[in-house]
Order: sequence, then C-alpha cells, then structure tokens
Amino acid sequence: MNNLVNKMDENMKWLKRENEVLGSGMRLPFFPLVIKEAKGEFIYDYDGNKWIDFLSSACVTNTGHAHPVIIDRMKEQMDQLVHYNPAYASHENLIALSEELIRITPGNFSKKVTYGLSGSDANDTAIKLARSYTRKSKILAFSRSYHGNTYGALSASAVSLPMRQNMGPLLPDIYHIPFPDIYRPQFKTDNESERCIAAIKHILETVCPPEEIAAIIIEPIQGDSGVIVPQQAFIDELKQLCNEHGILIIADEVQTGFGRTGKWFASEHFQLEPDLTVMGKAIASGMPLSAVVGRSEIMTSWQPPAGAFSLAANPISCVASRATIEVIETENLTKRAQELGSYIKNRFRYFQERFGVIGDIRGEGLMLGIDLVGSQVSKEPNHSYAAKICWSCWEKGLFLTFFSGSVLRIAPPLTIKEEYLEQALQILEESFEDVTAGRVPDSVLDEIKGW
Ligand SMILES: Cc1ncc(COP(=O)(O)O)c(C=O)c1O
Repeated sequence: MNNLVNKMDENMKWLKRENEVLGSGMRLPFFPLVIKEAKGEFIYDYDGNKWIDFLSSACVTNTGHAHPVIIDRMKEQMDQLVHYNPAYASHENLIALSEELIRITPGNFSKKVTYGLSGSDANDTAIKLARSYTRKSKILAFSRSYHGNTYGALSASAVSLPMRQNMGPLLPDIYHIPFPDIYRPQFKTDNESERCIAAIKHILETVCPPEEIAAIIIEPIQGDSGVIVPQQAFIDELKQLCNEHGILIIADEVQTGFGRTGKWFASEHFQLEPDLTVMGKAIASGMPLSAVVGRSEIMTSWQPPAGAFSLAANPISCVASRATIEVIETENLTKRAQELGSYIKNRFRYFQERFGVIGDIRGEGLMLGIDLVGSQVSKEPNHSYAAKICWSCWEKGLFLTFFSGSVLRIAPPLTIKEEYLEQALQILEESFEDVTAGRVPDSVLDEIKGW
C-alpha cells in the first residue's frame, strides 16, 4: 500500500502557532496532527489526509465520531437549554440519565449518582465519598494504575513519573499495592496473583492497618499500563479481603466502561459489584461528563456543596450520554466489541507467528494491547519497534498509538465497519513487514516518542 499521507503543510502551520501558546503538559509526543473533522471511524486533517482511527480519542468515542443519532439529540437540546448550575436547579436529562446509569451499572442494590466533568474529578469524588462514608482515611491503589491528573486521582496513580514529579505533597494516606501482571510477573513466578495477594496482606499486616482503610481503587482491567487483565482468582481474593475488613471497592471504569471491553463495564467480566463505579470518557461520546454511581448509603453520606461542580451534568452532555446508551444498545455494540475483538486477536496471533516481535496479545473486546518485545523468550519491551510500527501506520493512513513503552493500543470505535477494520489490519501487516525489513528509518524515533 502506498503512503496515503502526503503533505502536512497546513498541520505544521497550525502547530507552529500552537507551539507559541500551549503549555507542555497536555500533549503526548506522537504525530503532528491537527484534526479538522472526524466522522465515524475516520479523522481528517487540514491537508486533506484521512486516517482510520484506532485510538477513538483514547476510548472516548466508542460510538464512533459524530454518531448522527447523538448529534441530532444534542442539536435539539441546544435550542432548549444549554446549562444551569445543578447546585441550584435540576433538569429532566439529569434525572433520566441517572436512572439509566443506575440500570446499566453492576450491583444489584440501591444506587444513586453524582456528576462531574472528567474521569479525574470523578475519581477524586469517589475517594472523598469513601472517606466521608467510612470516616476512615486510608486508600489502597495499585501499582501502574492511571486514575487521572487532579490531586486525588494523581495521588492514586502510579504509572508514570512525569505526572508526579515536582508536584509537592500529594494526597496523604494512599498506599500502593501490586497489580498482577501474568505476562511479566513482578514476582518472577507463575503464581503471580497469589504472590500479589500475599504482598497486599503483608502491607496490611505491617504498614497499613486494615481497619483504617476506606477503600481500594482498581481499574478492573488496567488501561494505560498497557492493558493488564487480572486473573479471576485475584479479584476473588481481593473481594474477600475487602469483605473481611469492611473496605469499599471503587472501580475506575473510566477507560473500560461503556461497552469498550465487550460488556457495559469491565467489572462484569469478574462478577465484581463495586460499591462505587467511576465513569467518564465514553459516557457522553466526547461531551464533557463524568459520573460516580454507588450504593445509596454512600452517595447520601455527605452534605452539599461537597459534591457540587458548576458545570457538571450539562444538559447537552446528559442528552449525549442518554443517546450513547441508546446507540450502544440498539446497535448491540457490546456484542460487536466482543466479536471484532476476537477477530483482531486472531489476526495478531498470525502476525505473532510471522514476525518474532509480538510477545503478548491481551485484553477484552476492543480494548487490546499488543506487547512488542526484543525476543519472545526474554520479553524485553521493544520501544523502537512499537514507535516505528505506529509511524509506518500513520504514513499509510491508520492512526495507531502505543503505551507502556512498547504496547500497541488497539481501540477502534465499536462501530467500525468490517471493511475499514480489514483495511486497518492490512496496513498493520504491511507496517510489520516494513519495520522488519528495515524500511522505517531510526530518524522517526525523534518524532514519535509516545509514552
Ligand atoms: C482508567 C482511567 N481513569 C481515569 C482517567 C482520567 O480521565 P480524564 O482524562 O477524563 O480526567 C483515565 C484517562 O485516561 C483513565 O484511563
């Protein structure tokens, strides 16, 4: 396949202007892209280039870009009510959406909802709610987790030093415990889950008194650490520990939610019924909205304005979220994510045999990680290969990124048409051929650093 991406003149002009005005913490170093338009599974720039989107705005646009049903509803809402601060008045879409969120969230118990604007602030809210309800302060969070960039979420996160460097004191009383990684076990044994549980118990026996712990915050499938799926046995043991000591479970479903993993929420893969479920990203198909759905007694344990944000539960975002839920259901997108995910995994198994650099293929639904290694035996992460694959795909018209240094992030919209999925996989195969044959120069590594 020829290079589909040719000139970048207009993109570069914009980026030069941006360079003068934008701070440095917002953008990860991948591609010189300024998006003009996005529709369905495609994104378009200012130079007439077009890419198939394998990132979905980092798992935000599960329903594809600008789904017509969602856009129409938003336009109607825009004519009626743009916003009113929810601390002072309600609106019908806040109420109707809350009912829907309660319906789709795991947990067969009485639940209530509260709203924010980002996954990060929703994680802060969940931590505050857990503390206020239990009157305990300690929080357990996992190694390599990503919960966001507000102070609470940041304090719980443990995936990247640049997030935490020079930030002054973070939230106190957050303890990090090991998350099992079956492919690269931290404990170098084949009973990683058991060893992690033993390490957690050791922490409870020596540093963190369990009766002082309010909650444990977990991504049921870790996202930004490179798609790490825990074993059922680990989740079962964790649930037991939490039951034993009255510790609440906060599931951070910001990335895994809204059908991404082939279920409404990834907790369902493990029969986990979290006390608090945190959601954001795909909840409103790109409109700013986040929510915490939790046990009624927890959600009513604090007083206003403890949970108030002026711009939360924006009516247009709420309408977009209701329409997102409708689209996921009517288009059967959870099932579609499962089916397309299995298909993609099979294709990568073939690539794994053909090219010696794929160490592991993991994930659920359309949240997949392809771990590239120097050797399938020694498993050392192959950063330069991952970066070159992504660059080559970019040049051929596929927008693909990697995280955790060497893990290709496969996260197309759940609505991607088979024809374009096929085209994307074809581009990927050609990129593996090109990189293996040394046709992608080292110089691209100066451009695409990733994270
Ligand atoms: C699991 C998880 N939690 C929280 C967040 C933070 O969400 P936001 O960027 O909307 O603040 C992210 C973002 O990547 C995430 O992946």
